[in-house]
Amino acid sequence: MIIEAVVFDAYGTLYDIQSVAAITDEAFPGYGEIITQIWRIKQLEYTWMRSLMRRYEDISIITRDSLVYTLKILGLKYSAPIFERIVEEYVHLDLYADTKPALAALKGRKLAILSNGSTEMLNMLVHNTGLDTVLNATISIDSKRIFKPSPEAYTLIESSLGVLPADVLFVSSNPWDAIGAKSFGLNVAWIERVTPEAIALACRKSDVIAPLTMFKAIRMQMDELGLEPDWRIDVGRLAERSGIIELNTST
Ligand code: LAC
Repeated sequence: MIIEAVVFDAYGTLYDIQSVAAITDEAFPGYGEIITQIWRIKQLEYTWMRSLMRRYEDISIITRDSLVYTLKILGLKYSAPIFERIVEEYVHLDLYADTKPALAALKGRKLAILSNGSTEMLNMLVHNTGLDTVLNATISIDSKRIFKPSPEAYTLIESSLGVLPADVLFVSSNPWDAIGAKSFGLNVAWIERVTPEAIALACRKSDVIAPLTMFKAIRMQMDELGLEPDWRIDVGRLAERSGIIELNTST
């Protein structure tokens, strides 16, 4: 098997969605963490709800709606400029430290993003962070009007890159996405950014479970859906492990 294309999820995989916590905390001191976690949990939930109901709205709308929900339920009053300043952060997310080394190590293959982000948001994000010079394609699920993990979303890899699913390595740190890609028939590497041991330790150390720990427990651990990714990659070792992936897949 030869991996011709490596396709990455964006939010949470190449980009650290937790990086919005700085601005949410600046806007609402003391609330940064809880806003950040409820916002992301609801944003994902709305993508799945809208897909099931067949009421697609692109992620720029969903990101706004889920932020409205979050601020409302926390009883936080906000002005339009503050709201816009927070939402704007989604096109300026931080890259994880391992993103650029990993992409550099994988040079020579087709490299792309397949994301639930909208075309406009993704293009801005990729441009603002300099990945536009490294990636061959930034693919939004927009044209399918349904979100990952729907199989329809993953068909965009073949139609956009001209590479068969069997020759693609899909990389995601989102367990639901890794499982969705596996279920569709891609080779999948799941980036395990948080271990169960780290979560257990955080819970043992404190009587009150932090919102971030809760997020890690429900959205960053491998799910029990009867499917497994082909590879689990340790935190920060994507670049280092990319050679191992090649070795394993070529046998
Ligand atoms: C992505 C998000 C939803 O598809 O993780 O980039």
